Order: sequence, then structure tokens, then C-alpha cells
Amino acid sequence: MSGIPHDHYEPKSGFTKAVNSRLPIIGLLYDTLMIPTPKNLNWMWIWGIILTFCLALQIITGVVLVMHYTPHVDMAFASIEHIMRDVNGGHFIRYLHMNGASLFFVAVYLHIFRGLFYGSYKAPREITWIIGMLIYLLMMGTAFMGYVLPWGQMSFHGTAVITGLFGAIPFVGEAIQTWLLGASAVGQPALNRFFSLHYLLPFLIAGLVVVHIWAFHSTGNNNPTGVEVRRTSKAEAEKDTLPFWPYFVIKDLFALAVVLAVFFAVVGFMPNYLGHPDNYIEANALATPSHIVPEWYFLPFYAILRAFDSEVWVVQFASWISFGIIDAKFFGVLAMFGAIAVMALAPWLDTSSVRSGRYRPAFKWWFRLLCVDFMVLMWAGAMPAEGIYPYISLLGATYWFAYFLVVLPLLGIFEKPETPVATIEDDFKAHYGKSADATPAE
Ligand code: HEM
Repeated sequence: MSGIPHDHYEPKSGFTKAVNSRLPIIGLLYDTLMIPTPKNLNWMWIWGIILTFCLALQIITGVVLVMHYTPHVDMAFASIEHIMRDVNGGHFIRYLHMNGASLFFVAVYLHIFRGLFYGSYKAPREITWIIGMLIYLLMMGTAFMGYVLPWGQMSFHGTAVITGLFGAIPFVGEAIQTWLLGASAVGQPALNRFFSLHYLLPFLIAGLVVVHIWAFHSTGNNNPTGVEVRRTSKAEAEKDTLPFWPYFVIKDLFALAVVLAVFFAVVGFMPNYLGHPDNYIEANALATPSHIVPEWYFLPFYAILRAFDSEVWVVQFASWISFGIIDAKFFGVLAMFGAIAVMALAPWLDTSSVRSGRYRPAFKWWFRLLCVDFMVLMWAGAMPAEGIYPYISLLGATYWFAYFLVVLPLLGIFEKPETPVATIEDDFKAHYGKSADATPAE
């Protein structure tokens, strides 16, 4: 697919000509900022910018925190207390970083589910999607390792549980677990390497974000109709698009202001609402908390991990055909990573010829059920693994896999989609009632 035809940067003054012929950076900035963007984008297209903001916020606040933090098992907890009590504005910086991680995940889940509804993962945007999935995995790794650093009870015992999962891998599990921790148990080597990686990974994420943006700038953005921008001529493309600057910059800044109003209310008035009180108790290897819960953003996948116990028939079957190599714990680990893998494969599992969920009557219902399922899994993940909760998790996990592996492939064959609008311009007119080339005096 060729790019959307548009004007390119032409240096005018002697200075800009000299700079641009040696390093075409002004041209690159101009082309990035003036990129033609579908003019019918709705409010679900704000999350990319919010995510970019979150990444910058986490790096800036993180760098400041590191100036006062000590990655040593005897001092880590006390150094966090020092940040909270003695460092000027320290508690604010820490609460921004703590809650910034939550905002990051709220934004990434809305961004992902936006993509799932409007079919943004479908050709030609598969690479954007896969890079996004890599970013998401790195975000989870970064958040997990960051949570270890305050060296509280949840940090310590959560790390023991999660790294213990790798121990479930047949034959090599124990070796992998020891390699991850740098020792046979959670301690100083683990804290050192998690600190190092927690500092490194956000910069890797930043690099991937550049590639992510490069990828969707090459294909052009998707939009709520899923219909592509017309590319036969510049005049036609201009009927479907507006330049990113100033139109979308202003829209995104307005959205950022609204999101930040909510974010600062949380940071200011309820900064510990999403945290766990046990993490204000220093790590103690000898006192395991009665109920270890991960941070809220891991809960849906944690629920899937715990859904498959030894009483579930697929686990028993897997154990039987593998001569006992696959036990319930290993099956749970496979299911947890598999739940993310099937989402990454969505571009190849969705067989529908229509991209946007807006024109897919049956898909809409299955998609709504997926959203409910995600929330139910999040809730079940926070509950103890006893009574009715494992059954609810199992039901939720089954639907998660069924959605990607059965519903998406079959819907494309059996569903009768509506006919999408012919052009983005038509959709814009239908929503805003004005022609793209209406005179501004009206
Ligand atoms: C640090 C994390 C991320 C950042 C900063 C980021 C940034 C962006 C931005 C700025 C856009 C364009 C505007 C928008 O659609 O909101 C975008 C589009 C997109 N993102 Fe992300 N993203 C991130 C993570 C992800 C993840 C985890 C996925 C899912 C796997 C994903 C999938 C997509 C897709 C498919 C598009 C294309 C949508 C379109 O063309 O309109 N992104 N991203």
C-alpha cells in the first residue's frame, strides 16, 4: 500500500536548506507533525498520546527517585521511607510514579480494546500490532520488577510466587528460576538485577514506541469506519484527512488535560487506593502474607494462571498425554502466556472482510462479552483461590481463548456484516453535517 499523498517539507531559507541537506531532521519533524490523519477519529484515539505522556512521566519521575533510592536489601525499604518523609516533594514524586504505572495500564488496556473493536490489528497494520504486543510485555516486566524495589512484604513474596512459576517448567525450570533470581531464593542478587532492568526497560520501550509510530505512519491510521483514506490523488486524500498539527494536537492536549485532572485527584487524595497495605511492611522472608495479590493490572492474567488446577479435565488430559510432564502449575503458566499469545495472533485469527466492529452486528455482542469477561477475570484474580472463584476464573479463561480461537475465525465466515460507508468524508459529513469543503463563513 502506498503512503497517503501529501505535501513534503521544502526548506526556504538558506539556513534551513543547509541544515536539511546535511541532516533532513526538519523535514522529518515536519512530515511527522503534518501527517494526514483521518478526520473522523473519535475519542478512543486519544490513548496513544496518553501512553506517550505516561512513558515520559515514568522515566522522569523514575530518574529522580533513583537519586534517593538504595538497591540494597537492608536499605531499600528505609530509602523509600526517606523519599516519602525527608526528600523535598519526595512523596509527590513517588506517588506520581506509583499511580503513573496504573494510568499507563488503564491507557494501554483502553488502547488495546480500541484496536480490538475497530480492527486496527488487521492488515496492513499487523506490524504495528505486534510491536504493540512487545511493548505490552515489556511494560508488564518493567512494572513487575519495579514493584520489587520498595522491598515490602508484597514485593518480596510476590516475587517469590511469580519467579516460582518459572520453576514449574519441566526439566529446566529450576535452573531458569535460579538464573532469574541470581540465587536459589529472593534476595540481594534479585534486587540488584531487577533494579538494573527496571531502569533499562523503559528506554527499550521508548525505542519500540518510535518503531510503533513509524509503522502506523507508514500505513496511515485506522479510524472508526475501518475504511482506508483514498490515495488516488492528493486532492482526494485531503477530503478524508486533516494534518495532525494543529487539529489532533489540540484534541489530544484537551483529552490529556481531562485525564490529568482525574489522575491528579487520585495522586492527591487517594494515592494508596490501588496499592496494597502490606507493602508498607518491610520484607520478611519468615512471615508470608495470608493472601498474596499482584497489582490490579496483572489480575486478569493471574486469574487465568490459577484457573487451571489439577481437577480440570484439560489439565488431566494434558498430564496424561505428556506422561505427567505437564502438571497443573505448568499448564497454568502456559495458559497465562497463551492468553497473551492468542491476542497477539488476532490479525491472523480474524477472518472477516470488514475491518471495523461498527459494521459487524454479531461481532459487537461477542466483543462486549469479551470486555465483561476481562473485568470478571480481573475481579476473580483478586479473590482467594477457593470456593466458587476458581470456577469463575475457569469460565472467564475459557471464553478468553474461545473468543480468539473460535469466535473470531468463525464469525468471519458466518456473520453478515453491514456495508461500511464508502469514504471517510461521508462518515465525517454524516456525523458533523458539514462538507469538508464548506466555506468557513457558514
Ligand atoms: C507505550 C505504549 C504505547 C504507546 C506510547 C503507543 C502509541 C500509539 C500512538 C500515539 C498511536 C496513534 C494514536 C492512537 O491510536 O491513539 C498508536 C496506534 C496504535 N497502537 Fe499503540 N501505543 C502503545 C502500545 C500499544 C499496544 C500495547 C498495542 C496493542 C498491541 C498497540 C496497538 C496499536 C495499534 C494497532 C495502533 C494503530 C491504530 C490506528 O492506526 O489508528 N499500541 N499507538
